[in-house]
Amino acid sequence: MFQAAIMGFGTVGSGVYEVLDRNAATVTKNAKQSIEVKYILDLRDFPDAPYQEKFVKDFAVIENDPEVRIVVETMGGKGAAYEFTKRCLLAGKHVVTSNKELVACHGAELLRIAAEHNVNYLFEASVGGGIPIIRPMLQCLTANRMLHITGILNGTTNYILTRMIHAGLTFDAALKEAQQKGYAEANPAADVDGVDACRKICILSDIAYGDNIFPEEVETEGISKITLADVGYAAQADCVVKLLGRAVLQEDGTLYAFVAPHFVSKICPLASVDDVFNAILVSGDMLGDAMFYGQGAGKLATASAVVADVIDCVRHDKHRRQFDWGDGSKKLLRPLNSFASRWYVRLTGDDAAARLLAAFPDCTQLSAQAEGEAACLTAELTTAQMNEKRAALGSVAGCMRLL
Ligand code: HSE
Repeated sequence: MFQAAIMGFGTVGSGVYEVLDRNAATVTKNAKQSIEVKYILDLRDFPDAPYQEKFVKDFAVIENDPEVRIVVETMGGKGAAYEFTKRCLLAGKHVVTSNKELVACHGAELLRIAAEHNVNYLFEASVGGGIPIIRPMLQCLTANRMLHITGILNGTTNYILTRMIHAGLTFDAALKEAQQKGYAEANPAADVDGVDACRKICILSDIAYGDNIFPEEVETEGISKITLADVGYAAQADCVVKLLGRAVLQEDGTLYAFVAPHFVSKICPLASVDDVFNAILVSGDMLGDAMFYGQGAGKLATASAVVADVIDCVRHDKHRRQFDWGDGSKKLLRPLNSFASRWYVRLTGDDAAARLLAAFPDCTQLSAQAEGEAACLTAELTTAQMNEKRAALGSVAGCMRLL
């Protein structure tokens, strides 16, 4: 029997317990032995949970118990989660996590400590929830140069955009609905502002390109400025608005990485990814395109990925998975200024159409959907060129890249 502990009994942590309990026979068969949760660490009380004897409030109980060989970190954040993860690895315990913030910010260091202590630090659930994407990136796709990675990486924002597109809800109404359904947090900033998606594209880039891409260096724009007017012009252009995390490799081995809402052509498979689903489209130089699609968030879907990592640790207890990435010193990230694409632009005001044509003489105009409004799709422009145009125009009501 293999003994484990869970740190953080929120949505994912309690889901991990539930998956281990409900699917105990399957887990035992696949791990070749049973897995028992010995401790659950949480500062809160859970008086309705039937396994009261497992709850502890002192991390040292887990750290100092040599019988605990695997620790699941589902606390989130990079405060106590960072400290406890380090101490578990230093104590020779495998750690499995869904904590994308911690992996994105300290993954390189934690993987190094894990290697030094011959244990695993695994995080399949940190990107795409229950979708298998980390293992494919680490194993199945490693014969490829990864030309680009394009992902719908956040379920909350994809739900909001889907409701704006298909039900005509405003951003505020769709956000409220997402909160009522329990998808969005009371403070939805990390999702809505693109921060969560940024952490996830950083983790995928770390793996694909072998060096740390720091979230604070990745240009990130969220969806709070998207209006129903933008959604309408997207439909006119046979596109849908999607929040994308993107990494684009250049010939010299550097890359662009960024998060921003896009006009996505309806012929792209990402365009039909709706509701809280996530999808990651990867393009390898040998493979071509492959898309990974599924439940990007949610208690049991995410927990199933965590438990699969736990099983992997049990199966490979003595033969740790060999992978890591550099500390960021290769400076792979290119400034976005030189990244070129076509753009959607919307202006408002009495002379909107004339100003738009003057700024983008070779654009494709869209039919105005309201008085005093004009919109177009531009020819290819770099980010720097678009920023110059925007500065010259003064206020721009809507502006997104095309994919
Ligand atoms: N808040 C995240 C989302 C949860 O909405 O996708 C999964 O990482």
